[in-house]
Amino acid sequence: MARRRQISEGKAKILYEGPEPGTLVQYFKDDTTAATPHRRIVITGKGVLNNRISEFLMRKLGEIGVPTHFVRRLNMREQLVREVEMIPVQAVVRSVAAGSFARRFGMPEGTLLPRSIVEYYYRSDELEDPMVSEEHITAFGWASPPDLDEMMALALRINDFLTGLFLGTGIRLYDVKVVFGRLWEEDQMRIVLADEIGPETCRLNDLRTGQRLDAEACRGDQAALTRVYQELARRLGVIPESGPADPQGPETLQ
Ligand code: TMP
Repeated sequence: MARRRQISEGKAKILYEGPEPGTLVQYFKDDTTAATPHRRIVITGKGVLNNRISEFLMRKLGEIGVPTHFVRRLNMREQLVREVEMIPVQAVVRSVAAGSFARRFGMPEGTLLPRSIVEYYYRSDELEDPMVSEEHITAFGWASPPDLDEMMALALRINDFLTGLFLGTGIRLYDVKVVFGRLWEEDQMRIVLADEIGPETCRLNDLRTGQRLDAEACRGDQAALTRVYQELARRLGVIPESGPADPQGPETLQ
């Protein structure tokens, strides 16, 4: 098979040129930097589970009418996605205080917020994703006021839907990070959800044990990360109830 052209490589994924114009192949690596931004950790099989979890959540969101870049899963580690013009802003929707929010306001992690709060961060590894206001976003031309309205509406809708979906599996969604892109179809432009959604882009809490069930909470512990990925995949029904026997190659349901 001809070698594909690599478009970009991030911490957890590689993007390749897709088979048709306007498409890309998103490859999920086993690397993670969750909670260890300056240390790369490899968890065998993580990319496979992340691919399945993100596919599942993107599909579910698509089913309720949230436009996403996801087209279909190609194999264990790859999915076909629409090529979009990425907006360099990430929206974080928080329902429960955690992470930088809890630190900023001196709130204990787990404090229920009076309502879901949307925050924006400028996507820059060099600047470590500084928080920005709507004024920065429109003044610097990262998104127009109507784009921003759409991003906020979609972010809240995604958060509401995921909150219910996770609750159904005994998990509280504390916060979720989403990124968007512009998809051009002839002269029409739509804002669509891009990248991935999964244990590295959400904070999750197991309602039964009160323990966090996401990548950051594992603080780089490989065994804990493996357990979290497998447990989430199991609860969402993307791997069998008994879990994969061999962590080298997680068995997945079709
Ligand atoms: P923060 O509370 O650390 O600012 O994180 C905000 C959101 O970003 C939260 O929904 C989880 C997500 N997130 C990542 O996507 N990657 C990370 O490495 C961390 C720490 C958080």
